[in-house]
Amino acid sequence: MPRSIITAALPYANGSIHLGHMVEHVMCDVFARARRLRGHETIFICAEDTHGTPIEMSALREGITPEALVARSHEEHARDFAGFNIRYDNYYTTNSDENRELAHFIYTRLRDAGHVTRKASQQMYSEPLGRFLNDRLIKGTCPRCGAEDQYGDVCEKCGATYEPTELIDPRDAITGATPVMRETEHLYVGLSAFTDFLREWMAEGVPQEAVRNFMHTWLEGGLEDWCISRDAPYFGFEIPDAPGKYFYVWLDAPIGYIASTRHWAEQRGEDWRTWWGEDADTEIVHVIGKDIVYFHTLFWPAMLRTAGLRLPSRVHVHGMLTVDGKKMSKSRGTFIRASTWLRHLDADYLRFYYAAKLGDGVEDIDLSFEDFVARVNADLINNVVNLCSRVTKFLASRFEGRVAAFDPAEVPLCGSLAAGLEEVREAYERFDLRGAMRRVAALGGEANLFFQEAAPWASIREDAERAHRDCSIALHAATALMTALAPVVPALAGRYAAALGVEELSWAMAEPTWQPPQVTGPETLLERLDPKRVKALLEDAREELMTTEEKQDGAVESTSAGGEGTAPAEAEADRGAGLAKLGEEIAFDDFAKVDLRIGVVKEAGFVEGANKLLQLTVDIGHRDINVFAGVRKAYPEPEVLVGRRVVVVANLAPRKMRFGVSEGMLLATSAEDGAGLQLVHPDAAAKAGWTVR
Ligand code: MSP
Ligand code: ZN
Repeated sequence: MPRSIITAALPYANGSIHLGHMVEHVMCDVFARARRLRGHETIFICAEDTHGTPIEMSALREGITPEALVARSHEEHARDFAGFNIRYDNYYTTNSDENRELAHFIYTRLRDAGHVTRKASQQMYSEPLGRFLNDRLIKGTCPRCGAEDQYGDVCEKCGATYEPTELIDPRDAITGATPVMRETEHLYVGLSAFTDFLREWMAEGVPQEAVRNFMHTWLEGGLEDWCISRDAPYFGFEIPDAPGKYFYVWLDAPIGYIASTRHWAEQRGEDWRTWWGEDADTEIVHVIGKDIVYFHTLFWPAMLRTAGLRLPSRVHVHGMLTVDGKKMSKSRGTFIRASTWLRHLDADYLRFYYAAKLGDGVEDIDLSFEDFVARVNADLINNVVNLCSRVTKFLASRFEGRVAAFDPAEVPLCGSLAAGLEEVREAYERFDLRGAMRRVAALGGEANLFFQEAAPWASIREDAERAHRDCSIALHAATALMTALAPVVPALAGRYAAALGVEELSWAMAEPTWQPPQVTGPETLLERLDPKRVKALLEDAREELMTTEEKQDGAVESTSAGGEGTAPAEAEADRGAGLAKLGEEIAFDDFAKVDLRIGVVKEAGFVEGANKLLQLTVDIGHRDINVFAGVRKAYPEPEVLVGRRVVVVANLAPRKMRFGVSEGMLLATSAEDGAGLQLVHPDAAAKAGWTVR
């Protein structure tokens, strides 16, 4: 196995580390620890992502320099990660000399290879600010739902995405002045030249299959040129041969992976090229969320390739964290910072729960607090932890903390453990942490059963030797299982190691022949999780949100410039697949009977006892009507519908339902199998009561 680098995506320097980030950092840390445990040289690299307009704006709001903001976040983030026992080899920053130099180097290679072109375009410019306005610096009225005070790229009310020029009454977000259009020049990387290369790279199985499918559609749809420059003033690196132009943050951010490795390597007197050089014998593994796949599977390999650097061997994509089934939300109080968690609960509880939930796919993972308490108590505390503390205590009190030798070939449990633990090691390697945890829990069940049935506390009276042997087997099982869990719950594993008289567990100690120096009965290894403590955490989180203003929502810089992140186009060959058959022909008169009207949603909410329906009050001009619509699945937060326009079948006979009378129907779209369900939303310019024809 070659030595490896594992990276977590670099967190933005504005905003706190929250439980969503922790999914990724726990995953990476578990993977790195599991590899180190097997003796593979593995470095875990991360850094602060420091550049770009949102960070500059956060600093401006606070009245400090971006550098000061970055320094503060760096410290806070490093502290949060340390609190969760995330063990980086280096947690660096993208605002470093190493990163500047590497960004220049990679850019120069791209340019010299003829991949960079310059193009002029018209952009919104603020005269009072003396700067071009990117999407986050423009605010106006949403062209779709009419919500005021929305950013230039996406409406937070209705989720619509658009170009800043589509905003109604655009203003610059700082002075409120109306922007003017002004010409500017930008640098673009021609990505389409890399299409064949990317196709091959992807075929090597670098990302998971679901991600390859995305890439495939992007590649088929044709890759647009990628805009890599931004106009001054910009917090970032100036482009060497384009004064007044700066690298777009997403150009230098991934280069931060290399810069961080370089900083680490040079401190040890190593050359970074032995890690990132084209011929380096290293495996590079990136772990990222599904929101930033585009940057890591298209631009990044293209940049590395052109620069003659080592390509990632794996890009592992995970889903997003939801809390109790919904997106983390400040208004619901489910936006929980890492630091808040640590004030109430042990890091290992969360690490274990995430591991128990995280498969190797890209599905979202849900933190449901009821399930969390149940899972931790059943699968961790009452299982392996319980075995560990019972066995060590018994050995310490009755057998002076010494274990007896036994023949593993005579013990079926030893056979299960040997085979099962190999599966656990393989599951870690695949990022199938859930699979690993299931296997450990099942083996833990077997081991507990063995101990219970052997009942050494009873047998010790007639046959002390047998009792000692059974305890020693149980201790072997406990040690093997805690070793298997060690990458996930390192602090807990450390306490158990101390109870055996060793510093740290290792796979060698999971062998049945290994004997611990001195077993002592530990204090509590890990307490049962009391739901009251979770309640206190949630209350604290809610309170904290009320007293501080979190800017995290605005942290993600728009990706719309240059067309990154746009949805892949449908492949022509599959036309019609998944669609319902076209209906029978009708006469115009049939159609004309249906009175379709524009409605504006005034209220939207759940219907108690109906898991498919939403109740909507819709203004159709003449009056407000009550509608029950079967679209709940598409709108887990029905409030987003308030203010939006819908199309109503206004002359449908009212229908009495279990919950009340429905006075109309709304037009909605979906594929044949019901996927993609959503209401049809006319443009915001349409008024309630207008006819749709
Ligand atoms: N700065 C960029 C990454 C640059 S990498 C060269 C960024 N930062 S971020 O702070 O917004 O997100 C960092 C990582 O955390 C991303 O992989 C992102 O997917 C992940 N997560 C952020 N919120 C998350 C959840 N709610 N759930 C799971 N992961 C989440 O993107
Ligand atoms: Zn809107």
